[in-house]
Amino acid sequence: MAKNKIIENWTLLPGAEPTEMDIRIMEYQNRGKLCPRRELIKTPEQIEGIRRAGMLNTAVLDEVADRIREGMSTEDINRIVHDFTVKHGGVPAPLNYEGFPKSCCTSINEVVCHGIPSEDVILEEGDIINVDCTTILDGYYADASRMFVIGKTSERRQRLVDVAWECLKIGERVCSEPYVFVGDIGNAIQKHAHANGFSVVRDLCGHGVGCQFHEDPDIEHYGHKGTGMLLVPGMTFTIEPMINTGSWRVFLDEGDPYGWEIITEDELPSAQWEHTYLMTEHGVEILTH
Ligand code: MF3
Ligand code: CO
Ligand code: CO
Repeated sequence: MAKNKIIENWTLLPGAEPTEMDIRIMEYQNRGKLCPRRELIKTPEQIEGIRRAGMLNTAVLDEVADRIREGMSTEDINRIVHDFTVKHGGVPAPLNYEGFPKSCCTSINEVVCHGIPSEDVILEEGDIINVDCTTILDGYYADASRMFVIGKTSERRQRLVDVAWECLKIGERVCSEPYVFVGDIGNAIQKHAHANGFSVVRDLCGHGVGCQFHEDPDIEHYGHKGTGMLLVPGMTFTIEPMINTGSWRVFLDEGDPYGWEIITEDELPSAQWEHTYLMTEHGVEILTH
């Protein structure tokens, strides 16, 4: 058997004394753990920019929360997101991103994510909908999504929405200190979803974010402790578990001409919440609060 090859993502700065952080990361790397490249560590200036993008993104979602109601179309939500973002000097990142035609994602019931806003999709009592917004401000990105329940929904759907929220919070709690692994987050989320009889989507994941829409690392919401990338202070990333009522299997909706909408295989409902986080010396800070 070949020895596991060490991936040398983390390198010391030439000519400089290694810092405490360098030494700590190098210890992990020498033990074969996957460490970030230095470019994933944001500068204080970048963090400030991402924080400001996060504040605007939160205001966008608050505006949606204020105005969302039964009888509205998902295109109405798109308009709210687009107009509010632009009015406050931001750019909605989804618009024209790899062919995505709208300014946010609206994913109802069995739509897992990347639902495309449409005049034809009308919110009805009992629907559960995820609105996912990503805002660019001064070149920096912040990404978050929330679930909204239209009127009153079934106990089962409400439980799904609540457990998906708990999964996000559990992932967050794993990150209450730095030098944890992406697999630690996934493992904790998976356990909670399964304990409640739900499943975790595997084909889509969270991601680094901040200077671009999607950066390394992938943040999977399932997996084994101690695997995946080490999360160190200065990294910014999302956690965004997609939790399914039935099977974890998903597919691309054939009816979507843009090739974006993801649907559960069994057409049972799915729920998701998302925040952008900054890892600090004392654990994560939510940048999309
Ligand atoms: N906001 C989604 C995420 O959490 C990505 C949407 S890509 C889009 O990663 F093009 F559909 F907007
Ligand atoms: Co995201
Ligand atoms: Co998102």
